[in-house]
Amino acid sequence: MKRKAICAFMVFAAVLTSCTDGKGKYRIGVSQCASGSWRDKVNSEMLAAQHLYEENVEVVIACANGDTERQIRQIDSLNRTGIDLLVVAPNETEPIVDAVIRTRQKGIPVVFFDRKANTEDYTAFIGGNNVEAGEAVGNYALQLSRLIEGHRPVVLEVTASMETSPVQERHKGFSNALKGHGEVDYFCVNNKDWTYEEAYESVKRQIKRGPKPDIIFCHNDGMGTGAFKAVEEAGLSEHVKILGIDGMPDEGIAYVQYGQLAATYVYPTHGEKIVQLALDILSGRQYERTNNLHGMMVTPENVNLSALNSRELIQQNKDLITVSSKLEDSFRLYDTQKKILLTSIVLIALLIIALTLIWRAVTQTRKANLKMRELNDEQTRFYTNASHQLRTPLTLIAGPVRHLIDSNTLNDEQLEMMSIVERNVNGLEHLISDVLNFRKDMEGMLVSDHSAQAPASVPGKTPEEKTAILLEEDDDNTQPTILVVDDNDDIRRYLRSLLAGKFRVLEAPDGQQGLAVARETVPDIILSDVMMPVMDGLEFCKHVKEDFITSHIPVILLTARALSEHQVEGFRSGADAYITKPFSSDLLLARIDNLLQSRQQLRNLWESGMLETRNPQAEEPSAVIDPFLVRFMEAIESHISDSSFNVEIISQEMDISRAQLYRKVKALTGSSPIDALRKARLAHARKLLADDRLTIAEIAYQSGFNSPSYFNRCFKAEYGFSPGDMRK
Ligand code: FRU
Repeated sequence: MKRKAICAFMVFAAVLTSCTDGKGKYRIGVSQCASGSWRDKVNSEMLAAQHLYEENVEVVIACANGDTERQIRQIDSLNRTGIDLLVVAPNETEPIVDAVIRTRQKGIPVVFFDRKANTEDYTAFIGGNNVEAGEAVGNYALQLSRLIEGHRPVVLEVTASMETSPVQERHKGFSNALKGHGEVDYFCVNNKDWTYEEAYESVKRQIKRGPKPDIIFCHNDGMGTGAFKAVEEAGLSEHVKILGIDGMPDEGIAYVQYGQLAATYVYPTHGEKIVQLALDILSGRQYERTNNLHGMMVTPENVNLSALNSRELIQQNKDLITVSSKLEDSFRLYDTQKKILLTSIVLIALLIIALTLIWRAVTQTRKANLKMRELNDEQTRFYTNASHQLRTPLTLIAGPVRHLIDSNTLNDEQLEMMSIVERNVNGLEHLISDVLNFRKDMEGMLVSDHSAQAPASVPGKTPEEKTAILLEEDDDNTQPTILVVDDNDDIRRYLRSLLAGKFRVLEAPDGQQGLAVARETVPDIILSDVMMPVMDGLEFCKHVKEDFITSHIPVILLTARALSEHQVEGFRSGADAYITKPFSSDLLLARIDNLLQSRQQLRNLWESGMLETRNPQAEEPSAVIDPFLVRFMEAIESHISDSSFNVEIISQEMDISRAQLYRKVKALTGSSPIDALRKARLAHARKLLADDRLTIAEIAYQSGFNSPSYFNRCFKAEYGFSPGDMRK
């Protein structure tokens, strides 16, 4: 569809462009025999005539400079380059005939102008009547001769080459005019060329030889000036009359005005009529085969008027040429502008097509890229998850193997075997790390799927393996409690074996159950996997941190998801530490220890009394004080003087079980709630002791003690001195 549109557009553009050439143009070839001012005039008239007529015509002129061979070559060459009509002024009558016939045989019309050739095979002739011209000059010579007195007038004719038709005809007309009368002595000299020099030489010779001529007829004005020079040199210029032919305004006519010539015959040019005749022939209009143009004698009597007329005509022709060349310039400009416009339209259209194609290509590539990216995402996710999942079983191999090696229970052979296993497990671990690192960049580009679902077949996660919560009921207070939340049975088993000596271990197979156990038992620390069914580790961690009962418990996320953005996610969910699988058991234990120790430090602070009270200026409790503790302390303070107020009432007021209250208070303060209550009462009493107006017994009751003696005992046990000692 698009290709068709482009083709149609191209054809349209080509048609439009070709239109600029317009309708068919006639090409007229002109073969000039010679140069000179008379021929220059004809040529410029023909060129001007290109713009004169309806038809679109081009005139091409070749000049042979009086060389007949050259003229033949030029005619053949004009024919080859393609002309519609040949206008020819044959240099000589005979040798040109074959070239003319060749032209005619090509079907090209031939028009002779000014001169003729010895053939009838031409289309038409146009030019001056040379016999008539010769006769006119002859008759004028006779008139002049009649003015000569005292001797019989001598008339000399100086011709150019008799091989040319004008010379033959002019001679015929001139001699006819003279011979009929017998009043004069008539001599004729035949020169080879139409030149000044030849005329000068032959006249000079004749004067020398005698008889001296009274009247000299030269076949053109240029030859006439040659004759004048010879006459002048002989001192005869006063008496000898010289006649010429051509009558160019700046030459023949001017010579008559200056008196060098007695008269000249205006040999007609009329280049415009030549072109008209050619166009009549080409357009199939009627035309005359012989078209004689008329000339006239210019004598001292009419020379001024003739000069004026002919100069005017020449000026008009020049003006016509100027106007037409300006017109031509405008047409050329118009043509160029049209071409530019067309080219611009073509270019703009091509640009639009190109842009459309580029746009389509770009959108297609973009779509393809998007699809590729999606595929890549999918692939990368798969590889990443699979690699992560491989880490769990590897942990379960690497951990126990190291354990066995460290246990010192293996003999040498077994130790060797275990080392091989360990080395290869390490190798596998590196391989997986490499895969993950390689994928890391690509994964970075992914819009990561934070839900990070586990691949369909996750090793070690069958429903049967979801174990029931194992709660150890023996309340061995010396060991901290750790809750392990992981859906993988083996991992839990392995962790249990790692931790069992130092901790009371609780377990849960997913986040939801883990949350229940955590709330119920308030463990000292939680170790949780991230990818788990029902509720994943991140959500679990978030819940733990949001629940005021469990919020203080440090959570370590233990996971195969090793990328930094995963860790960021983990920390955002509130985790206190993030350990990636496969992990070193030492690292894990050290991390647990660390977290427990910072908990212990908080408890120490509490015990040393630094966290006992709130900052009265602060609207919010100090950041290090757990909100639970704040609530707990508020409950105590509001009932400080009430001796019946006990742990049971506190847990009811705080809407938690006694066990939860116990675990939470113990975890945060290191003391049991009962101890904490007693310590608060004693601290209150200690403050009251500063007030001397109260008795110690009153202070005991106001601090919620039933008996002053019991208060005394407790006070001494707490501070090392009795209330009485304080008063002293
Ligand atoms: C120019 C010319 C003219 C002459 C004519 C005759 O070449 O010599 O001077 O009148 O040719 O054809």
